[in-house]
Amino acid sequence: MSCTKYFILLSAFLLIYSQTSSAQTSFRPKAIVLPLTKDLPTNQYVTEIKQRTPLIPIKLTIDLGGEALWVDCSQGYVSSSYKASRCGSAQCSLANTRACSDCLSGPNPGCNNNSCTLYPENTISKLDTIGEIAQDVVALQSTDGYNPGRLASGAVGMVALGKSNVGLPSLLASAFSFKRKFAICLGTSKGVVIFGDGPYNFLPNHDLSSGLTYVPLLTNPVSTALNYFDGEPSYDYFIGVKSIRVNNANVPVNSTLLKINNVGFGGTKISSSTRYMTLESSIYKAVTNAFVKARSNVRRVNVVAPFSLCYNAKDWSSTRLGLNVPLIELVLESSSVSWSIYGANSMVDVGNGVVCLGLLEAGVNPRTSIVIGAHQIQDNLLQFDLASSKVGFSSLLYGKQTTCGNFNFTSVASKIMP
Ligand SMILES: *[C@@H]1O[C@H](CO)[C@@H](O)[C@H](O)[C@H]1NC(C)=O
Ligand SMILES: *[C@@H]1O[C@H](CO)[C@@H](O)[C@H](O)[C@H]1NC(C)=O
Ligand SMILES: *[C@@H]1O[C@H](CO)[C@@H](O)[C@H](O)[C@H]1NC(C)=O
Repeated sequence: MSCTKYFILLSAFLLIYSQTSSAQTSFRPKAIVLPLTKDLPTNQYVTEIKQRTPLIPIKLTIDLGGEALWVDCSQGYVSSSYKASRCGSAQCSLANTRACSDCLSGPNPGCNNNSCTLYPENTISKLDTIGEIAQDVVALQSTDGYNPGRLASGAVGMVALGKSNVGLPSLLASAFSFKRKFAICLGTSKGVVIFGDGPYNFLPNHDLSSGLTYVPLLTNPVSTALNYFDGEPSYDYFIGVKSIRVNNANVPVNSTLLKINNVGFGGTKISSSTRYMTLESSIYKAVTNAFVKARSNVRRVNVVAPFSLCYNAKDWSSTRLGLNVPLIELVLESSSVSWSIYGANSMVDVGNGVVCLGLLEAGVNPRTSIVIGAHQIQDNLLQFDLASSKVGFSSLLYGKQTTCGNFNFTSVASKIMP
């Protein structure tokens, strides 16, 4: 197998730090936070972690369904603590890989003999490659539910938050005996990922960890990654949508498409790397038709790509939850609840006073029938509980008079040394 300049980080050594810290070797953090900033040109959420020896800050993009954290090591990766994982080692079996490779132009990070490999995937550009599995030091901030942090763009890899054994939620849970649980909140300019349990304190001093609505996470038996091993399931987060309502009326959709079939097609997933909600063609048409009919008296204006339904913003009244457009609801399985998509999550401001319905058409027979994108989960708090296989959602936080940008960070004065 060929040598690549990427590696998958299995961070066996974690260094937890805080701004006000004094060393305390026995410290167990209660939770760990990744502050996020939205990179406006790309609409990706970026975090900054410290990594390597000596520690340097690096920027990574958040990938909700990603399998493993990966970092590009082609640009001067220097670290005395970098260690490639030898084929047959415990790390390789944890990562569930069956690939082993030599690399002739090494040794250097990303290129070692007898190291096991996986396929790091850029879920934004839909490109993947082969990457060496390795471990190195990572420093993250601990939290008690309060504290500050700031970043910028220029990402060199992705933080994987998927359901795999080597996703960050599972790695941190096993390193610190947390629950395999994390919450994510993506705001209009900032956001946060919190690993471990609540409280999730948002200004003005709400703990949002109670009052979430839970539905089961579903398993897609076939990987949704570009490249994978036979029998590998998807690490994406799927939920069961039973039907769709627009303005309180049922929208006729082919229910077969809402289920995950035995080859892994169909169903509904939540994706932070998909910008707008994307629907299989017949579902897309049914939903947009219902939307138009629900307010046929409101004049449509010239469309702005990539959208197909646009209006003058001033033709709609405003509410705390965004423009007062028809409500789109995903009615969820195994529960009498629905996921409500209010104006702030359905409409996109495209400038010049024009707003468009932020849904995209996926074509016929797409891999996943409904992909709930970043715009739809913006300013909603989601909690993924991997141990209990369920997801909790807050609904649009504007209803609780807060936003994802309002997380109240404050660090715990403690440190773990590797
Ligand atoms: C890797 O193994 C090849 C033979 O398979 C050998 O030629 C090369 O020197 C080795 N490289 C390193 C860095 O050990
Ligand atoms: C519903 O979708 C499935 C899967 O694409 C398809 O086989 C079936 O023919 C569709 N049913 C109808 C009534 O269109
Ligand atoms: C954040 O929470 C702490 C602890 O409850 C509180 O003392 C502080 O005032 C809060 N910050 C702001 C800006 O309200």
